[in-house]
Amino acid sequence: MMKKCARVLAVTGLIVAGTSLSVNAAGDDMQTQIDGIMGALPKFAVPMREVGDRFQNMYFAAEGGNWALASYMSKYMDKAMNPAKVTKPKEYPDWRSFYDGDFAAVNKAIAAEDLGTFKKEYSAVIASCNDCHAGMGYGFIEVKKLAAPADQGIEYKLSSKAADVPK
Ligand code: HEC
Repeated sequence: MMKKCARVLAVTGLIVAGTSLSVNAAGDDMQTQIDGIMGALPKFAVPMREVGDRFQNMYFAAEGGNWALASYMSKYMDKAMNPAKVTKPKEYPDWRSFYDGDFAAVNKAIAAEDLGTFKKEYSAVIASCNDCHAGMGYGFIEVKKLAAPADQGIEYKLSSKAADVPK
């Protein structure tokens, strides 16, 4: 959606360059609207709540043999951060390299449906979550593993295959 808006703005900009003041004002309105949309999009704090919950849920899904749910939680833990591509373009690549790098071992264990490796990698990656928090000035947000899933309204003990998640 933002790409489309940017394109519309670019076109508006071209029109403004060659025409009257009133069109210029329309361009300003458009910019104000875009600034408004940007301001309303979440930065890190809102999606991180979802990251936190999905991260907790993933553990219980794996433990319950619901590998599709574990895989699904991981997939949308990552997608939850998408607004930050637009709102925090300087910081988003740090998330990308975390998920594609440190977190890859967790995803690999989910794909292999290997609970022993999953538990080991899951515990290890918590330090990487917290390293990023400390590195960005949020050392006071320390992730800890919960004794129960963040969301209670899902059946975690349901046998499924990691590959069952629709594309
Ligand atoms: C790229 C850096 C980065 C990584 C990696 C990262 N976080 Fe965060 N996280 C942040 C930042 C920054 C905040 C503070 C949000 C803000 O103020 O913008 C945060 C906040 C949080 C919060 C508090 C949200 C709230 O407001 O209640 C939770 C929970 C959280 N992160 C969980 C995690 C978990 C779990 C992981 C690992 C799976 C993780 N984070 C990995 C940067 C990161």
